[in-house]
Amino acid sequence: MAGLCFDMYGTLCDTSSVSDRLAAELDVSETLVDAVDRTWRQKQLQYSYQVALMDAYEPFWNVTERALAYTLDQYELDPGTEGRKRIQEAYNHLDPFPDAAEALERLGDAGHDVVVLSNGNPAMLERLASNTGLDAHLDGIISADEVKTFKPAPDVYENAADRLGRDLGECRLVSSNAWDIAGAGQAGMGTGWVNRHRDPPEAVGPDPDVVARSLSELADRLA
Ligand code: LAC
Repeated sequence: MAGLCFDMYGTLCDTSSVSDRLAAELDVSETLVDAVDRTWRQKQLQYSYQVALMDAYEPFWNVTERALAYTLDQYELDPGTEGRKRIQEAYNHLDPFPDAAEALERLGDAGHDVVVLSNGNPAMLERLASNTGLDAHLDGIISADEVKTFKPAPDVYENAADRLGRDLGECRLVSSNAWDIAGAGQAGMGTGWVNRHRDPPEAVGPDPDVVARSLSELADRLA
């Protein structure tokens, strides 16, 4: 049985579920809401890689706030201070993917250690796990904040293996983010890619060990 490390944002929870809050606060067309949603997420990831490389770590909550500020600036939108806070707060209330709880439960029942391994800082991860009820199906939460850098830096995957008391090869990262899969594979961790949109794998880093179309299919394969 393995230590299964689940990515949170985009894998267990749907980051695009912020779009309802964006629509309510911004009062713009659906097309613009989609563009803001996409740019916010892209900038959030880009800034996480950037601050890690720049050796200027700050918690993922702050990185997410900076990405929101950039995005609102780019589209010349101003929901006001309270509106911004409410938009950012949506990150604590993302929708879990419909098969997330059941997949975690099944894999736990099969004897795996089931944890979250995320770039999120502990406070935001705990809040989201509790708000979604996913915490009931988890053996723990491991944050990149423990090593003050972000995935795909190898330190983050190595720290997770240490925390689980296992070798990297006895752990598997489960993620929908192809870049995360490439990073975990490069660090020596096993990988399970939840490829919901039939994307190609990354052209850098090792290919995923296991590929599934949903968390539920992944649980079938690994349970
Ligand atoms: C996570 C995001 C960044 O680590 O996907 O949960």
